[in-house]
Amino acid sequence: MNERGNLDADLGKPEDYTDFPASVELDGAPYWLVLTGEDNGYRLLSALCPHAGGEVRVYENIFICPLHYWTFSQTDGACTNVPDERLMQRRVELRADGRLYAVGADF
Ligand code: FES
Repeated sequence: MNERGNLDADLGKPEDYTDFPASVELDGAPYWLVLTGEDNGYRLLSALCPHAGGEVRVYENIFICPLHYWTFSQTDGACTNVPDERLMQRRVELRADGRLYAVGADF
């Protein structure tokens, strides 16, 4: 349990993921595990659209929500067609045991 009272979630080994974005279910909710493009980093992006909760899908090199077609970056979750909107996300750490962990709460 971390300082915020949340359990960190074991996502497995990096080599378990061969294609990105990778679909991940966490606490019963859908996420995408993505590469940040910085320092070999990883991030979890919520697959639930901030507009009205549609489930975003991969379309070429972006995410797209099928309900009203908002689109999102596959590296940081920023909305690319509506200013100041983004997907919720959760930090991911690669720990000394060689496994990825989702850390803390969504922000
Ligand atoms: S619910 Fe996703 S764009 Fe409206």
